[in-house]
Amino acid sequence: MNVVRAGDPLVERMRGFGTTIFAEMSALALTTESVNLGQGFPDVDGPPELLEAAVAAIRDGRHNQYPPGPGLPELRRAVAEHQRRFYGLEYDPDAEVLVTAGATEAIAAALLALAGPGDEVVTFEPYYDSYAASIALSGARRRVVTLRRESDGWGFDPAELRRAINERTRVLLLNSPHNPTGKVFDATELRLIADLAVEHELTVVTDEVYEHLVFDGTHVPLATLPGMRDRTVTISSAGKTFSVTGWKIGWVCAAPPLATAVRTVKQFLTYVNGGPFQPAVATALAFDDAYYVGIAETLRGQRDVLCAGLLARGFDVVVPQGTYFATADVGTDAVQFCRELPIRHRVVAVPSSVFYDSDAGAHYVRFAFCKQVPVLAEALRRLDVEAAG
Ligand SMILES: Cc1ncc(COP(=O)(O)O)c(C=O)c1O
Repeated sequence: MNVVRAGDPLVERMRGFGTTIFAEMSALALTTESVNLGQGFPDVDGPPELLEAAVAAIRDGRHNQYPPGPGLPELRRAVAEHQRRFYGLEYDPDAEVLVTAGATEAIAAALLALAGPGDEVVTFEPYYDSYAASIALSGARRRVVTLRRESDGWGFDPAELRRAINERTRVLLLNSPHNPTGKVFDATELRLIADLAVEHELTVVTDEVYEHLVFDGTHVPLATLPGMRDRTVTISSAGKTFSVTGWKIGWVCAAPPLATAVRTVKQFLTYVNGGPFQPAVATALAFDDAYYVGIAETLRGQRDVLCAGLLARGFDVVVPQGTYFATADVGTDAVQFCRELPIRHRVVAVPSSVFYDSDAGAHYVRFAFCKQVPVLAEALRRLDVEAAG
């Protein structure tokens, strides 16, 4: 029985997005017993207080049924308080905060709500792979502006961004701190993006899941810039900040018309998720500053170990300002390089080229450093020797 329509255009397009290579690399990691620096999740658990809060929430029996559609009030209040505490942004937890199934659902719901056939969504390449998929699901067209390597990191040509925007553009989708480059967009870049959004009356969807994993520079939410609060859908999630990527608790902060539009779509994607995780994340968002400083310091140390080790081995590494990832220019086809790496050295990385529409990333490889230092050290040691057989 043929249950899938052969050549279904949407399914075919989805196949082209990054996940296919992730599956291939994860399978290779297993068969070659590689150290897996492809996957963007930490190999340590979240803070014990957070884990205990979730266990307690399951045991106390009040959170095991559907939470309210927009999310548990306690968590919405904690998200609003987090935005006030770190960025001075005020949101009404009832009308302007929405809990989602991770940032991924928030991004999908926002794009489905705000863009459709005939519209265009502008984003930077390389991009997190769900962007291409969610834009495709919405029926809108993706237009990319390339982040190019500069002497001290990554930048873009303002003229290229201006050219990408036209009368069909509805949404600008911005990820900062940025996966996979580790770039943190600076004040000048954000001002340009904000000015263009105001001039062209665009909505900006910002993906800020790495907001607390910044080592150099400062994360500035776009919504803090003049004129931007009410045209920005700010998205983040608990996964990276609290090292619980499997919990998939995310959130949206936006002015009422935007928040309502996103919620209207979101209710038919998952309706709700993660009942007992929601009060636990509310507890974690209120952790003191030492927690937030500590997680960034830990990752900074891991970044430094990996980047210094790769540089010492002759890799051309761009040291990231934030996130879980470092990029190396391997000077050859990145997909081929990543297919050979586990076989030659029993280390897995992923080709960043799959996060590009253009061939600008053909030689870039992404290494994840959100792993314990001995794991990173073992990966580096393996790069020194050719695997036998
Ligand atoms: C840029 C970016 N956005 C969103 C996500 C997904 O976030 P969540 O797990 O909260 O859906 C990731 C995870 O890798 C990411 O790198």
